Amino acid sequence: MHRSPPRSLVLGLMAALVLSGTGGSATAEPTISYLDDRRPVHDRVERLLARMSLDEKIGQMTQPERQNVTSEDITRYRLGSLLSGGGSVPTPNTPESWADMYDGFQRAALAAPLRIPLIYGVDAVHGHNNVVGATIFPHNIGLGATRDPELVRRIGAATAEEVSGTGVDWNFAPCLCVARNDRWGRTYESFGEIPELPSQMSTVVTGLQGRRLGGPASVLATAKHYVGDGGTTGGKDQGDTQLSEAELRKIHLPPFQAAIRRGAGSVMITYSSWNGVKVHGHDHLINGVLKRELGFSGFVISDYNGIDQIDGQPGFTPAEVRTAINAGIDMVMVPSEWRRFIETLKAEVEAGRVPMARIDDANRRILTKKVELGLFERPLTDRRYLRTVGSAQHRALAREAVAESQVLLKNQRNVLPLDRGNGKIFVAGKNADDIGNQSGGWTITWQGSSGPITPGTTILEGIEQTAGKSGTVTYSRDGSGIDGSYEAAVAVVGETPYAEFFGDRPGAMGLDAEDLATIERLRASGVPVIVVLVSGRPLDISAELPKWNALLASWLPGTEGRGVADVLFGIRKPTGKLPVTWMNSVSQQPINRGDGQDPLFPFGYGLTYRR
Ligand code: GLC
Repeated sequence: MHRSPPRSLVLGLMAALVLSGTGGSATAEPTISYLDDRRPVHDRVERLLARMSLDEKIGQMTQPERQNVTSEDITRYRLGSLLSGGGSVPTPNTPESWADMYDGFQRAALAAPLRIPLIYGVDAVHGHNNVVGATIFPHNIGLGATRDPELVRRIGAATAEEVSGTGVDWNFAPCLCVARNDRWGRTYESFGEIPELPSQMSTVVTGLQGRRLGGPASVLATAKHYVGDGGTTGGKDQGDTQLSEAELRKIHLPPFQAAIRRGAGSVMITYSSWNGVKVHGHDHLINGVLKRELGFSGFVISDYNGIDQIDGQPGFTPAEVRTAINAGIDMVMVPSEWRRFIETLKAEVEAGRVPMARIDDANRRILTKKVELGLFERPLTDRRYLRTVGSAQHRALAREAVAESQVLLKNQRNVLPLDRGNGKIFVAGKNADDIGNQSGGWTITWQGSSGPITPGTTILEGIEQTAGKSGTVTYSRDGSGIDGSYEAAVAVVGETPYAEFFGDRPGAMGLDAEDLATIERLRASGVPVIVVLVSGRPLDISAELPKWNALLASWLPGTEGRGVADVLFGIRKPTGKLPVTWMNSVSQQPINRGDGQDPLFPFGYGLTYRR
């Protein structure tokens, strides 16, 4: 009696036919191949890897910027990933348009013979900040002031929902940098100046990814920038971190250990150097410490054109490509020169200067995360999450985070909280009525910008909404029109948006002339002056502070400015604690807890209301 051939043989033959391109449609795909989600992840990855050509493997290791590829390129070059750089958005910049863009690119990837889904990365570092209408949460320095890891996990989860609604499945966040010098333009991307704070706040990884990858609205997290980006001499962005290995490990490594324990799926390498050697080419730090010693099993991505910096010359060379890949970088963020990168890496492999084993290891790492994320089963946008983008629930969470992040540094004669009753309040300052200024960098565009750049509530609007019907709120940006009839004057001042090296402040770190003039105008009226400082870091204000009746560090609160008013009016007591030491003078930089210097306000300082 003929026994029907075993199911496995039939399915295997079908798989061979399909995968040889002569078989039925994808939907007829047998369940025995790497597409069978009942199989263990490792098994699926090995089966897929065994079918891949060198071109397909190198395609998985290449990440162009979306503006520099066509759908045909994605299919033809077997590209495995794309990114949106800061502000690289579809037109119109709406959540639906993002989802359509993502699905278009994904379909192009699935059109290649092996149908390997691409993974798409964005910087959603304080909400899905490239997208107009998304909820913009406080930047990390404010979240560090909350000392609330569970809140930060919730923010990660909310961000993952908004990101998922637009199709995107990979977030280049969190930055787990330990900011040691406030001159650094990325200080606001740090949760704080001691490793314990970013380590505690690595809960955002769990928020983004879920307790395991692949759940609903699970987005791959990125622990960045490995390692020592916040410790450069002079706070120079992309500069040199001159520390012993013991100091580097003590100060800058713990947050990455915490993120790895939480299962962070990717790590991004820092542009900076360690004792003069660019980390993008550092075998000991990447292969040795990160992968072997810490056991990191996810994949490592370079920063944007990061491998170009290894030799200190513009552009990348074959030597830089092989150095970076052999040092342990698995995927290269090569926004425009991606064709030349593919050719170069292929030549290095064929010449035997990059072992095939290294290429296979990189692919195993990348494909494992794609399988774990469920991209093979659910490659297209889950549009159920579109409705979460900028939702009332997420904005309420952001408002809660804003309130918790406020740090009260001075409150002379308890001028705060403000009276919600029939008080007359005067509001002034360039940051009072400006969503762009209160959100900071990485908002809609890479650098961010002043003005009504996205829907939200300005700090002024928050004050007006809270003051109550019988209260009177008068606003004048420069303070003109104030007189002695007001109970109090609120000056919302500080920095305007910047990102990365554009925010480095090698010189003075005080308030600008406009802010000083505005505050002086208010003071001249004799009305108590409450300064609300919207900035990405401590500023040099000690000479001015005695003239102020109160000071509230508001950091970069994002779209939900009402959270600031919640604290100003005592609806929420201030509970924030400084995540960074506040200098007495710019000459003290870098100034950190325990360094023996005398700060204006120490790390951990923060007042509250007596009543
Ligand atoms: C930037 C940043 C990095 C970001 C990447 C992609 O230059 O250094 O934090 O994730 O490029 O935008």
